[in-house]
Amino acid sequence: MSRRLLVTHALPYANGPLHLGHMLGYIQTDIWVRAQRMMGSEVHFVAADDAHGTPIMLAAEKAGLSPEAFIKGIRAGHEADFADFHFSYDNYHTTHSDENRELASLIYARLRDNGYIAKRDIQQLFDPDKQMFLPDRYIKGTCPKCGTPDQYGDNCENCGATYAPTDLINPYSVVSGATPVLRDSEHYFFELSKFESLLRDWFGGKLTKGAPVANPGVVAKLKEWLDGGLKDWDISRDAPYFGFPIPDAPGKFFYVWLDAPVGYLASFLNLCNKTGLKFDAFLSADSEAEMHHFIGKDIINFHGLFWPAMLHGAQMRTPTALHVNGYLTVNGAKMSKSRGTFIQARTYLDAGLHPEFLRYYFATMLSDTPVDVDLDLKAFEERVNSHLVGKWVNIASRTAGFVHKFFDGRLAAQFSAEQNELWRVLISHYEGVPALYESGEFAEAMRRFVLIADLVNGHIATKAPWLMAKNESQREELHQVCSFSLAAFRLLGGLLKPVLPATVEAAEQFLAAPIADFDAATATLHNHSIQAFEPLLSRIDPKRIEAMVEASKESLGAAPEAETNTKKPAKKDSKPMTENTAATATQDAAVIGIDDFAKLDLRVGKVLACEFIDGSDKLLRFELDAGPLGKRQIFSGIRAAYGEPEKLIGRNVVFIANLAPRKMRFGLSEGMILSAGDGGSDLFLLDADQGAKPGATVR
Ligand code: MSP
Ligand code: ZN
Repeated sequence: MSRRLLVTHALPYANGPLHLGHMLGYIQTDIWVRAQRMMGSEVHFVAADDAHGTPIMLAAEKAGLSPEAFIKGIRAGHEADFADFHFSYDNYHTTHSDENRELASLIYARLRDNGYIAKRDIQQLFDPDKQMFLPDRYIKGTCPKCGTPDQYGDNCENCGATYAPTDLINPYSVVSGATPVLRDSEHYFFELSKFESLLRDWFGGKLTKGAPVANPGVVAKLKEWLDGGLKDWDISRDAPYFGFPIPDAPGKFFYVWLDAPVGYLASFLNLCNKTGLKFDAFLSADSEAEMHHFIGKDIINFHGLFWPAMLHGAQMRTPTALHVNGYLTVNGAKMSKSRGTFIQARTYLDAGLHPEFLRYYFATMLSDTPVDVDLDLKAFEERVNSHLVGKWVNIASRTAGFVHKFFDGRLAAQFSAEQNELWRVLISHYEGVPALYESGEFAEAMRRFVLIADLVNGHIATKAPWLMAKNESQREELHQVCSFSLAAFRLLGGLLKPVLPATVEAAEQFLAAPIADFDAATATLHNHSIQAFEPLLSRIDPKRIEAMVEASKESLGAAPEAETNTKKPAKKDSKPMTENTAATATQDAAVIGIDDFAKLDLRVGKVLACEFIDGSDKLLRFELDAGPLGKRQIFSGIRAAYGEPEKLIGRNVVFIANLAPRKMRFGLSEGMILSAGDGGSDLFLLDADQGAKPGATVR
């Protein structure tokens, strides 16, 4: 029976765009998932946005949006990024969903009924202006040890001292500037200490038939925490909070980390509801299915302590394995905004860099150990050019032409004796590759790729088909060299397929021989007819990397809140310009599903004010009454078409309400007003008929 896997990666917070650090672990997950599918496992790969918590609530407020509208825009950006990096989710969802509310409430109720929830009064700093309790990072003040001002509530960046926020001298709220006061509040705690023996069993592989639940270093770390004593975990927060209300506790909300991992299950439940898959077959305590979580090293405690305990306490299965990745550095240092190395996923794509180049580079760096990974931009360029273009694509580009020119596109009926021998060697290197993917040793798998490619290129260099082609009497030998090379090119395609899905798909089309699984790639293709060869990839132009770094520096000028909101939806022209697009072509087709349309929050806005702006000959400033959404300021580039802006007051225009707000020189633009026409003076505002209410939805 084939293995049944539920696979997840850490859910990105819905408070800003994805950067290349996120992409490290996410790409690792997608490669593993694709390799598993090629090994014949039944895989369900699900993810979601992590949409709750104080930072998101405050970011939405700053952007002048409801949290719901805010997270909707961020999610659209995340999904566009994932699609453009060729992720193969079976489902993408959000923690702010009905499924998650139901599951989080259910798990909580079971924990409570099973006696694992305690209530306790705690004292916490409260912002009297903002009328909210303050998380530690929202309190600053003078360090009690060294006297440095403006230090965070938990530790001092100057002297390294750690302390409680109540120890700060002259503390102030980062949200309002007010002096916080201590207040009592009743909090709900999950009694983690009651799960010590369960956790010891889980770490020891007793719940997974002896299979390790994580890399030995990770398990050792978890044991260390456990030996240090488990503290109960505060799972409630007071209103105002963007999250789910605790069912039996008015004014209390689940802490974001309580419902975040439940979001894995919610996304899966959402998939089950769509497809008829059985949720319980994966989540019941006696499930034979596997559950794999890919996470970064900073969130091991949530996934290795709280999560298995929560699941077990709620009578559900525990995870099969945690796969932990280290942190990404760029050019040997922490990602930095001023150096232009804090690179957003979208900035990489907009620079015209092929998404699969990053997937390949990360693959060459990843192992089962959670060590930090450096994206050295020079090495990235050189490795991609040398390995993918120089060593792999070149095999085909140097041989396919002859097959068409002299042999009518048909491969030879057999290899030479020497080639049969070499083929056996190639296969022996190839054979261990699935196991390397399975165990997360992608770098080793990529070394196999280089090794095999070097052997093939060595054969081509010795035989020199370009010389043979000049000699009528060497036709058969030429045919065999080219045929052997193309079969080997395909073998390498099989090896690379989890990493370069779209590129290999184009190679499959060229070879007219799909690679359904790892085994399929080992065929010798005797007598097989191929299609015309088109260059599959072209070398990286270093200018594109420079452009990416420059573009990453540019966002520096923007205020932090604008910076986290610079999500751009997928643009048609954001595809790499140079490389193959066989597989991506369908994603860019002009036809969209109703779901895509549903992502747009189109509304009627009544124009309250409309005026020229000093310093802009293109823009008009609009103030719209958007009904329940409040007032919106929007800058619209229609000045050339509307010379008397005040005449627009009172009209019912149509605007996109969930577009990420944009910080402009003149202020924040909170949406986009729709008009028809080619631009310039040829622009005509769309109107809703009289009677339409401000804020009404346009469908
Ligand atoms: N929302 C939580 C996870 C909830 S899972 C139920 C979270 N979000 S995050 O957006 O901050 O991070 C998402 C993932 O990206 C995490 O696995 C995190 O470790 C990873 N990374 C974030 N920055 C990273 C790097 N610079 N390098 C590598 N991974 C990094 O945590
Ligand atoms: Zn200090």
